Amino acid sequence: MSLPKTEKIWHNGKFIRWDDAKIHVLSHVIHYGSGVFEGIRCYHTEQGPAIFRLREHMQRLLNSGHIYRMDTSFSLDELCKAALDLVQENKLGACYIRPIVFRGYGDVGVDPSGCPIEVYMACWEWGKYLGHEALQGGVDVCISSWNRPAPNTLPQMAKAAANYMNSQLIRMEAKANGYAEGIALDVNGYVSEGSGENVFVVMDGSVTTPPLANSALPGITRQSITTICHDLGIPVAEQMIPREMLYIADEVFMCGTAAEITPVRTVDRVKVGTGARGLVTKRIQDEFFAITSGKKADRHNWLSPVGTPATAPVLR
Ligand SMILES: Cc1ncc(COP(=O)(O)O)c(C=O)c1O
Repeated sequence: MSLPKTEKIWHNGKFIRWDDAKIHVLSHVIHYGSGVFEGIRCYHTEQGPAIFRLREHMQRLLNSGHIYRMDTSFSLDELCKAALDLVQENKLGACYIRPIVFRGYGDVGVDPSGCPIEVYMACWEWGKYLGHEALQGGVDVCISSWNRPAPNTLPQMAKAAANYMNSQLIRMEAKANGYAEGIALDVNGYVSEGSGENVFVVMDGSVTTPPLANSALPGITRQSITTICHDLGIPVAEQMIPREMLYIADEVFMCGTAAEITPVRTVDRVKVGTGARGLVTKRIQDEFFAITSGKKADRHNWLSPVGTPATAPVLR
């Protein structure tokens, strides 16, 4: 797969050409993983393209930077506007937006204080992360032999580039063993999250997800699902989840900007529920996609419309 190029990338407040968005090999981020980033979806709606939960993503970006003492000179409003302008500038409809803040070229040493903080934002056309069929039919996942980082090691409330070395181990191992994804446990053996998704369990009509203290990212889709459950009258709570609960649950699903809401049909080759997408998962999915497609009212103001109607093809 190669990245579908667009015309422009946003860099420190200016648009530059895609091919000019290059950094030096001695940039701090390359050696020490000193970057924080976001993954954001822009959806096609009947009213034109609209970015899902833009402010929440940009706030998490600022929070991630703050944790690592990487505050930028850009405000929340400026970053949100940059994302909207970027999609418009590239004449895209449905797409993926990737802002990143990192320590650039200056000094090579662990102490990053001599390196400038760079902010880039790119966007490109993007389809379904785990495939179209996954959203309906579900995926087969395993429990990873890799744990998520323990508390007070790498902060998991930051969406930091360095965290994704752990995610890569989880993902590569899952793929090598024929699974679509891996779910990692935390340092105490409780369910944490997937390599790029939060995890939900449905049992006896109630929905639960691990608390952030189990080394899970404060996922924005996770938070949206909690709100949707409240709206639909489905009981929802944060709860520590032992590994074996995944095997005996009625339904399990994973969620994230990339995976959206993906049912899990087996865990470690053990069938979950009926081994097909469950009814509660479908209800939540239907509501989520009705809102993100603009078919249902955006009652929580989750969508930020991009200026002009899209001319690009619609990705579904
Ligand atoms: C490790 C990890 N957990 C959870 C998520 C889901 O977060 P969100 O719903 O904000 O995309 C992601 C995706 O960004 C992730 O990489």
